[in-house]
Amino acid sequence: MVVRRIALKNFRSWQRSNFELGSGLTVLAGPNGAGKTNLLEAIYFGCTGRSCRTSTDRQVVRNGAEAAHVELVVEAADGEHRLSVGLQPGSAKLSQVDGAAVETLTASDLRPLVTVFLPDRLSLVSGAPAGRRAHIDQLVAALRPTRAPLRSEYSRALIQRNALLSNIRRGTSSSASLDAWDNELATIAEQLTEARDDAVAAVQTVAADVAEELGLLGALDISYRHSKAANRDQYIAELQEKRTADIERGFTIAGPHRDELRIKRDGRELKIAGSQGEKRIALLSLLLAERQVIGSARGSTPLLLLDDVMSELDAERRALLVRRISESGQCVVTATEFEHVPATDGTSVVRIPIGPESNSQRLKIA
Ligand SMILES: Nc1ncnc2c1ncn2[C@@H]1O[C@H](COP(=O)(O)OP(=O)(O)O)[C@@H](O)[C@H]1O
Ligand SMILES: [Mg+2]
Repeated sequence: MVVRRIALKNFRSWQRSNFELGSGLTVLAGPNGAGKTNLLEAIYFGCTGRSCRTSTDRQVVRNGAEAAHVELVVEAADGEHRLSVGLQPGSAKLSQVDGAAVETLTASDLRPLVTVFLPDRLSLVSGAPAGRRAHIDQLVAALRPTRAPLRSEYSRALIQRNALLSNIRRGTSSSASLDAWDNELATIAEQLTEARDDAVAAVQTVAADVAEELGLLGALDISYRHSKAANRDQYIAELQEKRTADIERGFTIAGPHRDELRIKRDGRELKIAGSQGEKRIALLSLLLAERQVIGSARGSTPLLLLDDVMSELDAERRALLVRRISESGQCVVTATEFEHVPATDGTSVVRIPIGPESNSQRLKIA
């Protein structure tokens, strides 16, 4: 799947523009404030129907405009398709595939898988464990789509068990009714733990290799930590062991909702001990590793969006990064100078200057 063109209307700083992307590497270069990150965000928005920078959709609408609109032309095995998302604050978002309304783009087979790196969003490394759990579960879903429902199945069972715990505490249910929910929760917990284990194991070594290549000093170690239980029977035993405490608190203490993706450099957790630069390289390495293993598992490499990574790297690392991202799949990179993204042998690079004049390009497809 390749994103051929993007057309945007009233998206962030962009008024009306459209761009043709290369099928390999596309470089967007221009001065600070020119709208490069906004354009990457628009590509992500067009692929997923969501922003990669904010959970407040209305922020993407150009100041003073009523609605934002992004349309992508993607090329699949059977030819070209159009994905479009329209957002008018106060109304429901309108997503369409080939002109027909769809509930969400992410449910469509025609939307490209996408990996995005934004240097100012290090929350995956630095933030709360829940963000990292959500991230592993996305990786699980991308690697094996049949495993995608496990996350919501687990959380539904957990909510129901917690509701029951509250009722038991209040005396409106008996604790005997917990057994059925313990079994249910333990069954899904085993599957979810196994799925997360597999997903993290698949990226671990590749991520460490990429980090070394990109110049991270000290070994990158990404691991999945779960409670001492791993299979269904052990989860049941754990739930029973903690049952009294669970009833006292009114929620389930142990289980996959408490697991952690640990990101360490030389044995120390980056979220505690890492510099901004180290966190950035570690995150970039993890995302590049994920893209590579998803590409092998699915036979189609996700579109990669890289914002402003070149300024951090020396010339040798830049060349190594460009070589790696050019190996397969499509990639869009932003930089302040084209020279920051050196060409490698045999790869064709599409270079798009981004400046004040880009904002008035005639719209062909929206
Ligand atoms: N909703 C919006 N409406 C209009 N302008 C916006 C909106 N959101 C951000 N901007 C503007 O976009 C510009 C920054 O664009 P950005 O893509 O971050 O630039 P670059 O990545 O090239 O440095 C800023 O001038 C900012 O004010
Ligand atoms: Mg930027």
